[in-house]
Amino acid sequence: MTDSPALALNLSNVSKAFDGLRAVDGVSLAVAAGERRAIIGPNGAGKTTLFSLISGETDPTEGQIFLFGRQVTRLPPHRRATLGLARTYQITNLFPRLTALENCLLAVQALTPAKLHLHRALSRYTDHFARARSVLEAVGLQGKENEVVRTLSHGEQRQLEIALALAGAPKLLLLDEPTAGLSPAESHMMTALLKKLDPAMTLLVIEHDMDVAFELTNRITVLHYGKVIADGLSHEVKADPLVQEIYLGAALETA
Ligand SMILES: Nc1ncnc2c1ncn2[C@@H]1O[C@H](COP(=O)(O)OP(=O)(O)O)[C@@H](O)[C@H]1O
Ligand SMILES: [Mg+2]
Repeated sequence: MTDSPALALNLSNVSKAFDGLRAVDGVSLAVAAGERRAIIGPNGAGKTTLFSLISGETDPTEGQIFLFGRQVTRLPPHRRATLGLARTYQITNLFPRLTALENCLLAVQALTPAKLHLHRALSRYTDHFARARSVLEAVGLQGKENEVVRTLSHGEQRQLEIALALAGAPKLLLLDEPTAGLSPAESHMMTALLKKLDPAMTLLVIEHDMDVAFELTNRITVLHYGKVIADGLSHEVKADPLVQEIYLGAALETA
């Protein structure tokens, strides 16, 4: 089954139930190629589950998922990666005893088709090093390539995770709370580097901080109890009374 190739991502009535709980509940979502979209919503709204459905780590209970016009609903994660999808995780996913560059090299190698490993042994290493260095530079870590990951600051580790996701030159990048746990200065740095990413790459970012979401993207989808309750241009979503109520409610609960 095919779909509009102008859409990087299209979800049609996608649900995921864990026992009785509908973590994602009938979500339809269309993201155009080159768009930058934020997904916001309170804790437990189903945002991370939605990413796992898109990446293929979780199977939907119902609905269909299309990537770049191709139905991928039952494709395993590595096949979706081959189509140009990459994601980062809410929890860090790095090799702490390896250097920043070694982490990037592993990510680049993991994405190189096996048959290429048999040929061009020497130029392959040169290519891989060049690619690894270029993704480190894209996230502002060019001076840190020989530093062991566990000696990097928390903010630098999160930047490195973005670099790993960029290793395969994805067409669609999913970022799960890239500024979570960062200091205001680190968060500012992360936002600046995300803004500078290739504008041709489609970006979907789960963001807890509304200000960061507004700065990075111009369209916002709001999830609440697994359902899309608002979807549109940032200023429209910001003005939506239901969104204001949920966010004000959430702010009062944690106050
Ligand atoms: N593997 C799982 N098994 C059971 N329940 C889960 C699982 N993953 C997530 N959930 C539940 O689904 C809901 C949505 O979780 P999640 O997608 O992580 O929300 P968010 O990222 O918006 O905070 C939560 O109630 C969570 O407890
Ligand atoms: Mg989450």
